[in-house]
Amino acid sequence: MASSLCNMHVAVAAGSSSRKLGNAAFASTSPQLRASVRFGSPSFFGSDLSKLLSCGSKTLHTTSIRQTAVLPSASANGTANTQGLAIDLRGKRAFIAGVADDQGYGWAIAKQLAAAGAEILVGTWVPALNIFETSLRRGKFDASRKLPNGSLMEIAKVYPLDAVFDNLDDAPEDIKTNKRYAGHTKWTVEEVAESVKQDYGSIDILVHSLANGPEVTKPLLETSRRGYLAAISASSYSYVSLLKNFAPLMNAGGSCLSLTYIASEKIIPGYGGGMSSAKAALESDTRVLAYEAGRKHSIRVNTISAGPLRSRAAKAIGFIDDMINYSLANAPLQKELEAEDVGNAAAFLSSPLAASITGSVVYVDNGLHSMGLATDSPALSQAVGSPEKVAA
Ligand SMILES: NC(=O)c1ccc[n+]([C@@H]2O[C@H](COP(=O)([O-])OP(=O)(O)OC[C@H]3O[C@@H](n4cnc5c(N)ncnc54)[C@H](O)[C@@H]3O)[C@@H](O)[C@H]2O)c1
Repeated sequence: MASSLCNMHVAVAAGSSSRKLGNAAFASTSPQLRASVRFGSPSFFGSDLSKLLSCGSKTLHTTSIRQTAVLPSASANGTANTQGLAIDLRGKRAFIAGVADDQGYGWAIAKQLAAAGAEILVGTWVPALNIFETSLRRGKFDASRKLPNGSLMEIAKVYPLDAVFDNLDDAPEDIKTNKRYAGHTKWTVEEVAESVKQDYGSIDILVHSLANGPEVTKPLLETSRRGYLAAISASSYSYVSLLKNFAPLMNAGGSCLSLTYIASEKIIPGYGGGMSSAKAALESDTRVLAYEAGRKHSIRVNTISAGPLRSRAAKAIGFIDDMINYSLANAPLQKELEAEDVGNAAAFLSSPLAASITGSVVYVDNGLHSMGLATDSPALSQAVGSPEKVAA
């Protein structure tokens, strides 16, 4: 699937310059090679574009691309594509569930969707809502709201959400009467979908960027039934529930995305409490939902398997710094993963450019998923795959 990103056609509009969504089109000094590459974010002119263009044997060199985009044509017959290509989400509306600060993947996705022109609605977990709204209002996130064109990302509306409850009948008394829920209404999935429908009529993009496993720090062997089912409920069924309730409001061609983790398919000791099982369910559900929602609503369903990020949720697990260091030492690309990398992939997958991509797990993890050996293992000093031998 990663190859879909690699195969993404990069437009080189010879002799034209353009401005889209407030992002400057970059032009070379040579009229013949003057290139206009339009993406939703200038980061596409930097490392991300290099990444998109660096696909196995088809590496296209993008020297100084941050300043000047002089790109060879990516078209099959070698002629320049004069139409250009943009991640253009103007006129689209996105609902992103699981944004409660500016540190996580949900925020980064919201930001890149906004940079591409989408209208942003978010669903915030009820217990985190007051502090999120207060911080937003007081400008605490203003620096990270800044979009490539200098404006600040606008969140059209923040909805209270608890994605483990489909409707109020599901919610136990102690939640309904909890002081953190008092004063908030219509926070079950069905009610939020209904509110969005009343407020806006329809959406085009649905993002599920939430997970919770109360026993995540426990090994699976020590996880209780209750803890395991809670992890599945909050981290996987919540996606099914969101789709069930939001798909009827989604315009044809719409896109649904969730965030998964490699622990679904490979053993990651420490990612416990049934969270690995929940991510495996999420990926399997992605395929089945892609079929069902594709046939019924003509929408697409994909999931991004993201590398480690120091988000609030990840810090709570307790070993995120080790995971980041492990990735730096062992992934094919030795650089820290930025939340924006995931945001960019999400913007692409949510756009018409990805119109034929559905049912996929898309890895945005510097390639770590494809490694079979920990190259920094002391046991490998004499092995063929040791970093020294690979570099030699
Ligand atoms: N951070 C990582 O290293 C990493 C790696 C791969 C995948 N992911 C996935 O990315 C997604 C986003 O997580 P993140 O790491 O960016 O952390 P995060 O803390 O930014 O996001 C998790 C969000 O889930 C919300 N949430 C928890 N329970 C909820 C509920 N019942 N209803 C509604 N919202 C609820 C939290 O309030 C929070 O906003 C998760 O699915 C996570 O598993 C994270």
